[in-house]
Amino acid sequence: MCGILGLNSHHDVAEHLIEGLKRLEYRGYDSAGIATVTDEGLQRRRASGKISNLEAVLRDRPCPGSLGIGHTRWATHGAPTETNAHPHLSGRVALVHNGIIENYRELKTELESQGRVFESETDTEVIAHLIDMALDAGHSPAEAFHQALGRLTGAFGLAVIFAEDRLLMGARQGSPLVVGLGENEMVLGSDAIAVAPFTRRVMYLEDGDWCVLSQSDAHIFDAQGVTVQRPVKTVAASAALAEKGNYRHFMQKEIHEQPEAISRTLSAYVNAARGDIAVPEALDFNAVSRIQIIACGTAYYAGAVARDLFARYAHLPVDIEVASEFRYRTPPMTPGTLSMAISQSGETADTLAALKWCKTQGLQTAALVNVHESSMAREADIMLPTHAGPEIGVASTKAFTAQLSALSALVVAAGRARGVLSEAQTQEAIQHLLEVPRLCVEAIECETQTEAIAHQLLDAQSVLYIGRGAMASLAYEGALKLKEISYIHAEGYAAGELKHGPIALVDEHTPIVALAPSDEVFEKTFSNIQEVAARSGKIIMISDAEGLKRAEGVITAGLEIPASDPLITPLVATPSIQMLAYHTARLKGADVDQPRNLAKSVTVE
Ligand code: M6R
Repeated sequence: MCGILGLNSHHDVAEHLIEGLKRLEYRGYDSAGIATVTDEGLQRRRASGKISNLEAVLRDRPCPGSLGIGHTRWATHGAPTETNAHPHLSGRVALVHNGIIENYRELKTELESQGRVFESETDTEVIAHLIDMALDAGHSPAEAFHQALGRLTGAFGLAVIFAEDRLLMGARQGSPLVVGLGENEMVLGSDAIAVAPFTRRVMYLEDGDWCVLSQSDAHIFDAQGVTVQRPVKTVAASAALAEKGNYRHFMQKEIHEQPEAISRTLSAYVNAARGDIAVPEALDFNAVSRIQIIACGTAYYAGAVARDLFARYAHLPVDIEVASEFRYRTPPMTPGTLSMAISQSGETADTLAALKWCKTQGLQTAALVNVHESSMAREADIMLPTHAGPEIGVASTKAFTAQLSALSALVVAAGRARGVLSEAQTQEAIQHLLEVPRLCVEAIECETQTEAIAHQLLDAQSVLYIGRGAMASLAYEGALKLKEISYIHAEGYAAGELKHGPIALVDEHTPIVALAPSDEVFEKTFSNIQEVAARSGKIIMISDAEGLKRAEGVITAGLEIPASDPLITPLVATPSIQMLAYHTARLKGADVDQPRNLAKSVTVE
């Protein structure tokens, strides 16, 4: 979603804004712009498309000034044109926005009736006019900003510059905003990664907060305009974390970082020395009769894998639903239900709203999140951390396996607490968890082989992914990964469902990726594979050595993963589906890290 950066500094900021915006590219965007304040007033440069287009504009028309804001826009209202790109100006203010102003139509009609002229189709421009009108009426910049905020309905993160008073202001309502306390400069950013090059000392605004930043001071106010203090934290996101290193893409780097990310995440739950699994004290699996998982996209599929594991190892029923549907179904909730949001960013609007709704129902809530300062982390009763580190590629990889790692550890903890796993079985399960990083290293070592197989997908119009049990959920994730970065149509199916419809799609041009480890349902999945082979389908099978041997002569290609216990097989098989999608997209020349139309953190509903 949109990225925001603001700087009130002692030196020209345009170049720094551009560098900062580049660090926000990962969020997904389709136009960009900056505005600064000079002695002549506000200066603005914008361009549709990539930041390189904006840089070209700046080469022709530089933008001096030591106070400025920058923005990467992911279009919601109005096409991604230069005119709709942020910043938006009105009189003495320039403004950038992340989120959606739900009452912008009413406000626009009102403002137009008062003679205000709009240049864009965005919902954002009304805010600039509201502030400017309040300035016209004689209010101070802070009063004008506060008054305008009171007129807005919806979600927003805002950064505004005031030309005459040389102030930078920001506001947060549902869309995160971070204040950076630099040396003789103040920074505003939509996330800590944007602020990291300037300072590591940050304050996170709470919902309803707004702030006034001079070059040397930061003042934060709550929705009522009362001064509030927010704790100063040190961000871990160092500048180096946002570098690709020797990898071609962030996605490739993040696939390779998985053994470490898994290991870090497991360490938060598993005490290897004591053979113990620790969960937050407030989480009593004996008091939980059911888990309701709510999530979107890849996080949803992590939850779907966990549903099978909780059933098998902890006899604990799990319902899972995409967050965007869950809330509007007014689902009946039973006492004893633990509501668990899963999210890399902790900011996904639908998941956050569903979590809040569960809270209003009096349910205990947990948030399994990678960003530990996120809205969900703060909203939930229990925060369950993953330690993937910042994930920059839009396609989620290491965040997914970190989620699976944490969930698998919780499954074992639940199994033990509920008396389903004996002490011996618990210790065995812990040993399996601890094997995961090493087995993932082995799986990733097959990258060259995966790259060779990716050639077989290049000309496909459509690819089907199949599996059973937890591997069916992984099939959905595999299909999502392929379609989002390579733009090849792909669908995941429970293997047994194939003959109830999708098999009609099978012919010699439709590759089928079969996730079929040699487990207790191997023969069933293999029957489905043979049904596909009988219809000339090309089968790429992901399995261990034994499974691949049994499938010889039937499949077109095999991708080997290390043999593993069913508790951890989903984790061990994941790098293969990621690498297959990655190399297919790369060979097609796609923009792997920033696929078209996608945003990293979806902060609008
Ligand atoms: O930040 P979240 O985990 O809540 O994000 C959820 C989805 O938007 C995300 O997983 C999305 O599906 C990814 N692009 C998948 O690779």
